[in-house]
Amino acid sequence: MTKKILITGGAGFIGTHLINKLTNMGSWEIIVLDSLIDQVHPNGLWQKPDNVTFFHADIRDQEPVRQALTGVEYVVHLAAETGVGQSAYEIARYVGTNEYGTAVLLEEISKINQQIKSVVLASSRAVYGEGRYYCNVCGPVFPLGRSLKALNNAQWDHLCPECDTVLTVQPSMEHQPLSPSSVYAITKHNQEQLLTLFADTFNVPSTILRFQNVYGPGQSLSNPYTGILSLFSTRIKNGNPVFIYEDGLEQRDFVYVEDVVNSILLALSKPSSRGEIFNIGTGEGTTVMDIAKILNEKLGGTSDIQVTGQFRAGDIRHAIASLTNSENNLGYTPTTSIAEGLTKLSAWVNSQQVMTDTYLAMESEMKQKGIMG
Ligand SMILES: NC(=O)c1ccc[n+]([C@@H]2O[C@H](COP(=O)([O-])OP(=O)(O)OC[C@H]3O[C@@H](n4cnc5c(N)ncnc54)[C@H](O)[C@@H]3O)[C@@H](O)[C@H]2O)c1
Ligand SMILES: [Zn+2]
Repeated sequence: MTKKILITGGAGFIGTHLINKLTNMGSWEIIVLDSLIDQVHPNGLWQKPDNVTFFHADIRDQEPVRQALTGVEYVVHLAAETGVGQSAYEIARYVGTNEYGTAVLLEEISKINQQIKSVVLASSRAVYGEGRYYCNVCGPVFPLGRSLKALNNAQWDHLCPECDTVLTVQPSMEHQPLSPSSVYAITKHNQEQLLTLFADTFNVPSTILRFQNVYGPGQSLSNPYTGILSLFSTRIKNGNPVFIYEDGLEQRDFVYVEDVVNSILLALSKPSSRGEIFNIGTGEGTTVMDIAKILNEKLGGTSDIQVTGQFRAGDIRHAIASLTNSENNLGYTPTTSIAEGLTKLSAWVNSQQVMTDTYLAMESEMKQKGIMG
């Protein structure tokens, strides 16, 4: 028997991979609702797979959302505006799609809640803000954002607020204090809270997945506002230098898109995941400098990797996920190493038309808005 699933934002990067996987499984009837925003779909087009029913509509519009939910038992909510830096000044747009859009979706689900078996929300590591650190003298610390003064003085690492010792990063855990430090992060946190309250009130099974930095084939190579690896790829393919913020030693947890898709399938199928929040990453940090070097090599590029000492207000220093909870209670284990994942990403990038590099225009927009130093 086929199971009917609605994927909001299904025409995007993660959605496309999820559709492929569900299609190969053969037991899913797939509905996609997506407004195909310009920033992600520059020509306003999407190669809709034959087996997908497509609602070309905005998540904020009740009527198409209602129609798209007809007969649906499973919902994966991916539709969102996703640029952290851009969200600082496009506030209405980010809050509109991410929060109001989620509100519309949940309100429409509430009208049919008896048939819903699982709602999965794509949340983000951004909700942690700076995350969890350790001071050798004082113990665990959850630092606030770095001050402009510290950043202007190239003091990139967090210092202990009690004794000024340089702090060591620790993997973030799901139930540690949250500290969303961008408009985007606030909207993802509010999505989580709306879904949690809604799920309790209407007894709807729901799962929240907090993705780290997702990468892989199909990432938008033309969107300079999000996805550091696609942004670097476009710089490298144009033969331009890759500029690295701060000292290049900031760490991110880069997770391959197929691992993310597997986590969504686990959340949809495992009753034990209901009402839970799970980190989805690799559990390991890689410096931005290292990832840029490996990518340059894999793409066969000749770009200079330049540490500029510039910074963006609101950027966090490090992000690494603890996988203890997702391994134990979701059964999630990442299977793709950084080396393998970057090989696959590079092969795909090399098969694509080289995109116009709009990085400098994005950077001057950030400077003009006053969020880049
Ligand atoms: N890619 C990552 O690194 C990452 C990390 C953490 C969380 N996430 C979350 O995962 C989800 C999917 O991310 P992605 O990387 O596939 O992004 P994406 O930008 O490729 O896909 C998002 C899709 O949402 C659609 N969309 C945007 N606004 C809409 C609206 N108002 N109505 C309907 N559709 C709309 C876009 O057209 C796009 O197809 C997002 O919720 C994002 O916040 C992604
Ligand atoms: Zn201390």
